[in-house]
Amino acid sequence: MTTISVGMLGCGTVGTGVLTLLNRATNQIAESIKVHFNVKKIAVSHPDKKRNLHWDEDVQFTGEIENVTTDPSIQIVIEVMGTVDQAYHAVCQAINHGKSVITANKELIALKGPQLTKLARQNHVDLYYEASVGGGIPILRVLSDSLITDQITGLTGIVNGTSNYVLSAMKDERSSYADSLKRAQKLGYAEANPINDLSGFDSAYKLAILSQLAFGHTINLKQLERTGIDKITLDELSGAAHWGLTIKPAIVARKKEHTLYTLVAPVAVTKQHPLANVSGVENSVLVTSTALGTTSYTGAGAGSEPTANSIMSDLLTITHHILTEQCGSSYNAPSTHISEYSLLK
Ligand code: HSE
Repeated sequence: MTTISVGMLGCGTVGTGVLTLLNRATNQIAESIKVHFNVKKIAVSHPDKKRNLHWDEDVQFTGEIENVTTDPSIQIVIEVMGTVDQAYHAVCQAINHGKSVITANKELIALKGPQLTKLARQNHVDLYYEASVGGGIPILRVLSDSLITDQITGLTGIVNGTSNYVLSAMKDERSSYADSLKRAQKLGYAEANPINDLSGFDSAYKLAILSQLAFGHTINLKQLERTGIDKITLDELSGAAHWGLTIKPAIVARKKEHTLYTLVAPVAVTKQHPLANVSGVENSVLVTSTALGTTSYTGAGAGSEPTANSIMSDLLTITHHILTEQCGSSYNAPSTHISEYSLLK
């Protein structure tokens, strides 16, 4: 049995989900790939706080991020603490100390993805961030692996679960905006600051990450046309429904020649549109590419376990790399989700 030592930064909704899924899969992982994950340390703001965790093994809580990012025995760091500046510093430190990193932090990857990818390559470690877009949907793998040789010309989707949940509850249950948001917060879908969800920032970060992978374009977020759902009323939703339309919190990207046109805004779709029935916390991304035409990827877009599941899949991918390297096979340069954005398409 090989032991892989893991450190975590943060233990909120997603972090506790990671522990739950790891705990649940311990025997299965041990049997199938002969690996035991030892979660050694978790850095949190309040290490002495009582936590209701589904985790059967010992773990040390620490108030110091450096205790995790510089611990020589830790091989993989999972960053689920949010914020940009502190997370950027922590992730750089972990990478510089030879650790592979998994992050769910969309703001971090949207703003600093290329720098972090470069740093990971320089240090021969992995950087994976499937959980940063689409919650449990493996959309980044689709773009960076399955469709890598295809020419992607368009993306349309819903990538903010909170906004979709709020609009769905308002439309289907006539629940007020404030009550719908409260429920989304209680279910662990909303960001610490829900303004990020409701005003379209969260969707904008995710569109930036998708565009980096799909088109090799870095979006200037300051110039991105962005409208949130915070002004939409019950009357507008029922007015749209009267005409057979549903208002959805959409992202759109279209590549024409060398220009990428992007938009984050609520849009009205007909009943026949594939996004019309994507409801509640679901996310969906429709990808249009030359070889495949339009393919769609739909599923739980936020929440503890769906998001943690994406982290688990990154964890297993990195573990395979570590095991292959230990076996001394022909494996050379550890991959990252993207090599160089500009080389991709
Ligand atoms: N607040 C985010 C959402 C969480 O509602 O989609 C998942 O990224």
